[in-house]
Amino acid sequence: MRERELPLHEKSIVFVGFMGVGKTTIGKLVAEKLNRDFIDVDEVIEKEFGMTPREIFEAYGEKTFREREKALSISLSKQPSQVISLGGGAFLNEEIRQACLENSHVIFLDLSWEAWKERLSLILDSRPVLQNKSLEEIEELFYSRQKAYSLSHIKVSTDHLNEEEAANHIMESLKLS
Ligand code: S3P
Repeated sequence: MRERELPLHEKSIVFVGFMGVGKTTIGKLVAEKLNRDFIDVDEVIEKEFGMTPREIFEAYGEKTFREREKALSISLSKQPSQVISLGGGAFLNEEIRQACLENSHVIFLDLSWEAWKERLSLILDSRPVLQNKSLEEIEELFYSRQKAYSLSHIKVSTDHLNEEEAANHIMESLKLS
């Protein structure tokens, strides 16, 4: 049976984009402004396993992480009135992408490679998919994901915006969309 579609103003907002672009920080600001709850999918998984994503990858393998990520991302995207930050790899999965695009407003936080590179040292240790990769390989991964992210409903280029400005910009885009 087809599920009831949520009215537009009740749909959740889902943030997508590469690791370290600010999905959690900006997502929290938008949630505050809208007076909505904020959910970080990685954080939910982390609590469930009592382990960080890197530890889960190492102990159980990426497949286990991706399965939990898929089930959670799909079910959360159908909840009304949330602000959700997906893990950077989630939107690459077609089922997750489809569920999010159908049930929520998807916002892509788009940071250029040049700007992103500056953040690499801050996030390197905690991100399992960046381990044992050269800068060239990371760059390749970065560009290979952009096509999927760009299927989002709204794209916000954040190179020249601080977090507060990005959140305000998103508020305006949501009003217009
Ligand atoms: C991943 C991104 C991470 C986390 C996991 C895998 C990825 O989330 O889900 O380490 O494949 O890009 P963030 O985008 O929040 O760093």
